[in-house]
Amino acid sequence: MKKSGVSDEDLEHCIKVAQKAVEIAKRTTAEVDIELIARGALLHDLGKSKTHGIEHGRIGAELGKELGLPSTITDIMEKHIRGGLTEDEAKELGLPVKDYSLKTIEEKIVIYADRLVDIITEGIIELKDERGSETRFEEIIKQNIKYGKNDITTRRYMEYHKEIQSLMKT
Ligand SMILES: [Fe+2]
Repeated sequence: MKKSGVSDEDLEHCIKVAQKAVEIAKRTTAEVDIELIARGALLHDLGKSKTHGIEHGRIGAELGKELGLPSTITDIMEKHIRGGLTEDEAKELGLPVKDYSLKTIEEKIVIYADRLVDIITEGIIELKDERGSETRFEEIIKQNIKYGKNDITTRRYMEYHKEIQSLMKT
């Protein structure tokens, strides 16, 4: 990540997302590929070495392919933008037109962890109350447009939140 030019701040974010995603994965009863979750989360913002724009997902996936990363990881990198865009949304945003929707539980856990880490690090909740990012997730996403972006994205995040929380044992 550093060699590719990712900033210390972005790298720190990726490390936090990886830690949170692994924590979430371990708290679920789902059979998940923890290594994929950790590596996908750690690398998800590789494209921020080139741009912080919406294309950072696609660019990151291209860089990942050049590095020889498997498609399971580059898919996470490419699809993490706004929680997995549909073809229509991709067209509207000027991205290559295809279906970016999330298919696997590993993809969903990484994206959920990405949102939780933003909520935790951006001071939306008290740092000592990290679980508040989950218990108050719905309210926070609805009230902070920068996370939800729009109705479709907000609805997607809610779905991941509900699905993943339903798999939690702790
Ligand atoms: Fe990102």
